[in-house]
Amino acid sequence: MTLYINDEIIEKVRDASDIVDIISGYIPLKKSGSNYVGLCPFHNEKTPSFTVSDTKEFFHCFGCGEGGDVIAFIMKRENLSFPEAVKFLADKAGIIIEERKPKDNKYLEEKNRGYEINKVAARFFYDNLTKNKVALEYLYKRKISSKVIRQFGLGYALDNWSALFNYLKSKGYKEEEISKVGLIRKKSTNDVYYDIFRNRIIFPIIDVRGRVIGFGGRVLDNSMPKYLNSQETYIFSKGNNLYGLNLLSKLSDRKRIIIVEGYMDVISLFNHGINYAVASLGTALTEQQGKLLKRYGQNIYICYDTDEAGIKATLKAIEVLRKLDVEPKIVILDDYKDPDDFLKENSIDDFESKLNTAYNHVDYKIFIYKNKFNINETEGKIGFTKEIAKVIRGLKSPIEKDVYIDKISKEMNISKDAIEKEVFGNNNRMGTKKNIIDKKNISPLKVSLPTANIRAEIDLLRLMIFNKEYYDKVMQEVSLDDYESLECREVLKIISDLYIEDEILNEDMLWERVRGIPNLNMELVEKIIKKPINFLPENVEQMINDLVTTLKVNRLEMERDRIKKKIEEIEKNQNKSPLQEKEFLQLCMELTNLNKELNLIRHEEGR
Ligand code: CTP
Ligand code: MN
Repeated sequence: MTLYINDEIIEKVRDASDIVDIISGYIPLKKSGSNYVGLCPFHNEKTPSFTVSDTKEFFHCFGCGEGGDVIAFIMKRENLSFPEAVKFLADKAGIIIEERKPKDNKYLEEKNRGYEINKVAARFFYDNLTKNKVALEYLYKRKISSKVIRQFGLGYALDNWSALFNYLKSKGYKEEEISKVGLIRKKSTNDVYYDIFRNRIIFPIIDVRGRVIGFGGRVLDNSMPKYLNSQETYIFSKGNNLYGLNLLSKLSDRKRIIIVEGYMDVISLFNHGINYAVASLGTALTEQQGKLLKRYGQNIYICYDTDEAGIKATLKAIEVLRKLDVEPKIVILDDYKDPDDFLKENSIDDFESKLNTAYNHVDYKIFIYKNKFNINETEGKIGFTKEIAKVIRGLKSPIEKDVYIDKISKEMNISKDAIEKEVFGNNNRMGTKKNIIDKKNISPLKVSLPTANIRAEIDLLRLMIFNKEYYDKVMQEVSLDDYESLECREVLKIISDLYIEDEILNEDMLWERVRGIPNLNMELVEKIIKKPINFLPENVEQMINDLVTTLKVNRLEMERDRIKKKIEEIEKNQNKSPLQEKEFLQLCMELTNLNKELNLIRHEEGR
């Protein structure tokens, strides 16, 4: 069977296939920091060095070097060709791939035709705007510069029932084609087509590939409806796209992303130099929009309208994002209606300080419920505390739970005990608390004086942090499995993640991510990250060699000790079973080989 699969379908299949879900079907994955880890299915290992990033939609094994996207995983794991792997995933996701030859790819051609019509229409709207004083005046009054008008490709639909229709016909497009992208509609009475958008400011909606997929149109006065949007068409699905993502993906550093409600909010922010805002197009954020957004950055701020609908949409967006393992922050705009409104009376610095003081979801809910309930009255106080107890119950971290219980107890003047009962129920109130204390007691403070081997591991990491060239060199020699120290393994994983993202390692980011990992000996972590390493660049080759050898020797020695112990155990047994005899011989052979290997290395290194 020869399959021809176009890019569109490949993209659709990739979007529909959550890499963590798919890989979890083969091996158990565990969340670790921002990634997932497990035992590599492509080589034999005992400690997990196989990492899956759902944000980057990428897997990588530090042990054997395998890596790629979800399709690459299936190709390798199921031993399939590229199109076969796509087909495999499509079947799983319920996407139908029709067999068709590249030549008669009608569907794709039709879509391209749709995008083309939209582009021609957008250009027509834009030209109209530049020639229409009233429309331009409207935008200028809203303080939108000509440059921003151009960047967003804003336009104006003439106050006329068939201006666009006639224009597109004159360019050779057929009635049905134009109607299919939602720009014209037939009158029910006389079968005559008319323009959907009339006398409106036009906001073309452009996807990340630069294709015009739909339009929004705003009246210039107070008439209704204020906004009109393209209907859902074969090239436009509102819930799958975000307004402004095209510019964000091109221009911003994506350190932060703001989700707003409306077209004008994105544009207004952009007008003030913030090129990292997108609008969920008037609807509450959908899961697809959340997934799409997560690909561009995880540091997400929700800044919806402050009215009732906006609050509802904010609560929904929080849920959508947290389900995707993104912890959003929520911007509080005080009495302003929306970001655009805020910027009418405040500077961009004011807005940025709003970003810097944005709330996490719990604080936001506390803030909202405080307004909803009258907490000065007993009933309101109870209602409020009950709602917040529900929020606290949903928190994963026991420490977070404790912090908020304490906070609410103090603020509401209700005993901690009562709130704990509300949160945990009567029985296991102390369960989580005890756990924290126990964990502290049993996790010993190990290695205040690292062994020679761990010192070598630390030095290798310090070199790798120093620059990517050294990182690449070291990674060629030793795999994650070769590191004895948990701290070194965890830090190395983060270093690798960061180097995948950028050529230059961002130390703040390194710290930030390390902090998120539980049970690390931070004293040792500091030794790795804090102290810069002293070395002469001309000696670095030799230095890496020596350090690598130390690691290799250590690993072999540990393996040898393990085998020795096993041999001793079997030897203790007087009547060995045939199976044990066989294992015994096997182990002896392994031991001999290990000794040989060790001698060879020591000989080479003159140790
Ligand atoms: N919206 C819509 N249809 C409407 C009203 C609103 O699609 N009839 C969507 C639009 O995407 C709009 C967003 O919801 O941008 C927010 O609506 P609203 O707050 O009413 O408008 P603003 O964005 O504040 O627009 P403006 O500042 O121009 O009044
Ligand atoms: Mn507004």
